[in-house]
This record gives sequence, C-alpha cells and structure tokens, in this order.
Amino acid sequence: MDWGKQNRLARVMGTGKTVMLAVDHGYFQGPTTGLENPGKTIAPLLPYADSVMLTRGVLRTSVDAASEKPVVLRVSGGASILKELSDEGVTTSIEEALRLNASAVAVSIFVGGDHEKESLMNLAKLVDEGERYGMPVLAVTAVGREMNRDARYLALACRIAAEMGAQVVKTYHCEDFRRVVDSCPVPVVIAGGKKTPERDALELAAKAMADGASGVDMGRNIFQSADPVGMIRAVRSVVHEGASAAEAFSALEGRTKGQGPAPSSSPG
Ligand code: R5P
Repeated sequence: MDWGKQNRLARVMGTGKTVMLAVDHGYFQGPTTGLENPGKTIAPLLPYADSVMLTRGVLRTSVDAASEKPVVLRVSGGASILKELSDEGVTTSIEEALRLNASAVAVSIFVGGDHEKESLMNLAKLVDEGERYGMPVLAVTAVGREMNRDARYLALACRIAAEMGAQVVKTYHCEDFRRVVDSCPVPVVIAGGKKTPERDALELAAKAMADGASGVDMGRNIFQSADPVGMIRAVRSVVHEGASAAEAFSALEGRTKGQGPAPSSSPG
C-alpha cells in the first residue's frame, strides 16, 4: 500500500479501534432528528470522535475548515426515503474527495437489493480510483426493509465488500457476529442503528467489541441522546478503554445527574 493511502487509513483506523461519528443521514432522509442544524450538533461531539462521516455539503457548510478531524466522506447517494433506496450512484468524484482532504470515502452496497449490481459496481469503481489516488474506501452494507440482519446475510455482504477491495466495512451487529468478523478479511465497524435507550446502545457497542469489531460508526444513538457529549464519551470508553456497558452507563448517568465523574475517556 502506498504511503499516502496508509497514512489516510491510519488516520481513520488509528490503533485499530475507532469511534467514527456518523452524521451523513441527511443524504437520503433530509433533516434527520438531531441533525436539523448539523454544525450545532457536530461541533461539541467532534473532539470525542476519531473521525467524522458526512457528505461534502455538510462538511463545507457545517465543519470548521481548521478542523484536523479525519473525514470519511460519503460519496454515494441519489435516492431518497421517498424512493427505492438501493438506487444509488457515486455522487462525489475522487478529485473532490482529495480537494476536501478526505481520509476515506464511504459508499453503500445493497446486497440482495433491487440495485445490487449497480451498488457493487459503485464500490468497484471507487476502489479502482482509490487505488490510483491513495484513498481508502469504506463499504457500508446497507440493509433494506426486506432483508434479514442475521449473521448469514451480513457475513455475505461484508465478505463481498472486502472481496471487491474495500479497506473497511461497516455493518450491523447481530447474533453470532463473530462469524461476520471472522469471515471478513478487513476491519469491521458497526452502525448504531435506530435510537435505543443509552444502556442498550452501550451494550451493543460492548458486544460488538467483544465479538471482534474494530469500533463503531455511530450516529443516532449519539446525537439523538439527551446528552450527546456524555454518550459519545461513554461509547469511547467502551471502544478504547474496554469499559463494560454497565460502567460506561453508570458514568453517563452520573454525569447526567451531575453526581459522579464523567466517563474518563478523553478527546481523540
Ligand atoms: C446511513 O444513514 C448512514 O450510513 C449512517 O451513517 C449509519 O446508518 C450509521 O448511523 P446510525 O448509527 O445512526 O445507524
């Protein structure tokens, strides 16, 4: 791997464990709850994220250009929640990703979806361009309403993403998640999914880490929390310090009640 690509990947995956802050939801669902004013949401969370995943529109309008936080640039889209979600194309060129100083680009694949082939070809095209310019590619295994989020399906989707050349894969946690990680030759990070109680989201993160995940790419369970900063710090303590969900939750609760210490995890 060329130095530039190695350097970009190291900025995103760092020590091999990562807390990626996902704030790209608007690319298909518009002003998502908690992201109505993206700049306001992102700024206080950024110090605690290892990288931030977002579109060029939100990056340019809502993130300070002096920020040194590694950017994972969402470059697939073209569908909205009003239409067939798998009908995506590549929306942002590799030159634009380089201009924006992205550390990686992210593209969704829809294995089993109506536009499975197009989405896999989007990934293939980005991997080719990424190899040419030294840009790592993160494949997002998007799951349609009709798809099972079980280990068999997710292992299939993750493995295909890795075989196509993705350097990192993002997927969902599931029962027997170890099988998904073990059959995927590149690091796997998990999405948080829909907002759940904080304790449950921390359990999810802890289980994923115990099952071999390389971290989280989490959005709604952080920015829709009543205490987004407390929550990202709690997630950080699970991912980077091996805190249990109970420990992280108790620190979060203590912070909320203004009683105990905040989760000890410091900004990345
Ligand atoms: C899809 O909307 C995006 O790729 C999100 O970044 C992804 O779903 C992770 O966010 P969340 O933790 O909210 O599921």
